[in-house]
Amino acid sequence: MEKAIQLLKDYVSHASVSNNPDAAEGMAGARDFIANRLESIGFSIEIMDTPRHPVVVGRYGYDKPGSEHWPHVVLYGHYDVQPPEPHELWTHPAFDADVRDNRIYGRGAADNKGPVIVYTCALENLFNQYPDMPLKIIYLLEGEEEIGSPNFSLVLERLKDELSEADFVLLSDTGGPDDQQLVITTQLRGLADLEVKVIGPSTDLHSGLYGGAVYNPLQALTEICSSLHNPDGTINVPGFYDDVVPAADWEREELGIRPMTEEELKHFTGAPELFSVPGFSPVEAIRFQPTLEFNGIGGGYQGPGPKTIIPSEAFVKITCRLVPDMDPFKIQELVKDAIESRVPASVKVEVTLGETGYPYLVVPPARPNTPEDQSSHLAKAFQLVDRAVEAHFGKRPLYLREGGSIPIIADIKQATGKDTILLGLYTPDDRAHAPDESFHLGIMEKAIPAMEDIFKGLAGIA
Ligand code: BES
Ligand code: MN
Repeated sequence: MEKAIQLLKDYVSHASVSNNPDAAEGMAGARDFIANRLESIGFSIEIMDTPRHPVVVGRYGYDKPGSEHWPHVVLYGHYDVQPPEPHELWTHPAFDADVRDNRIYGRGAADNKGPVIVYTCALENLFNQYPDMPLKIIYLLEGEEEIGSPNFSLVLERLKDELSEADFVLLSDTGGPDDQQLVITTQLRGLADLEVKVIGPSTDLHSGLYGGAVYNPLQALTEICSSLHNPDGTINVPGFYDDVVPAADWEREELGIRPMTEEELKHFTGAPELFSVPGFSPVEAIRFQPTLEFNGIGGGYQGPGPKTIIPSEAFVKITCRLVPDMDPFKIQELVKDAIESRVPASVKVEVTLGETGYPYLVVPPARPNTPEDQSSHLAKAFQLVDRAVEAHFGKRPLYLREGGSIPIIADIKQATGKDTILLGLYTPDDRAHAPDESFHLGIMEKAIPAMEDIFKGLAGIA
């Protein structure tokens, strides 16, 4: 453990903020750190350049005789982190990892540097113990996950054939309700991003000289926005729900075993009251329903005191979270059409389509909705993970759909046919993306031997 903690401290010290062009040094530092770490335990390293941040590719076991018949796993992680700001809300500097309260604090300590250190420590222990371990591994470490993986498809294209030969993908970049109950994430929601601009008069106008004669763009925009939901919170866009696959009964029951309670949800969100659409509790709605959110809205005068104008423009940023089998491109078109059909003739509207990500669903073996053609490698791996979690955490993992997104998982499935097992190691207290992010040391301590069991099982070592 001491070694794992020290490694994580070193890794966190590289400020790898992918969206900040001034953070080149931190990005290179984190990249070199993880490449050296993999190399030092026995991986061969290839750095794949992209237009922005390279992907570190580590391979293990490839050059050993007979390895073409060995089990073959793809591991994934990301070495970039979210921006640390606002710095003043950190108890201790964001890139100087601090151990306290059985946690290690720092930007990226959880998301995603902690789990990657867990995996490399488990592998190091095993490679030392079994120098001829019959397992082929390709480890992909991306540097652009936190900015939506704009270049990952290039890497996927180049590695497509190799990844198609692997058995399945394994990673930890999701979480569960607390440090006692681990979760295997079975769903990631997709994303569809749009920006809407309403354009009125050619400049801001004096509202006394022209008010009454010109339609106000902020009024038009807010009318459009408020038309996009019904009073009960459902989304008022024709066709929006057409492709939603309802959750199976067992998925609702699983969520009932250790739901994040509404009290916890209120605590973590700080919202005065929770709200969800009819037929779904708030905890269910996060996992089983799509959303349409306004992420930011603006236009007109924002300074102190009043200003008597009719603004010339107004904008809103919208993202939708999508559940299987919604298609992000179709959703973008449906929302765009709904908006365009609701604009008063007295203003103009421009809808710009942004990022997209497909939702992903993987059903574990022996459930009513398990696909009949599920690969035996995947089924076996699910069992290994399940048993290892039970052995080291005392309880079997729950299989839960999740509300967050990792769009490349659906892309990997589409390009290679390979499914992903997502073993969540985060807890809500980790504060991913927020000040005082941390990783739970109890989880780290149990997850290292659990991962050893999983890799051993994959390699067929009893
Ligand atoms: N690791 C998260 C996603 C996540 C967290 C999924 C917990 C499920 C449970 C990831 O780093 C993330 O934040 N993704 C972004 C997506 C993106 C395209 C920027 C998200 O979900 O907003
Ligand atoms: Mn993240």
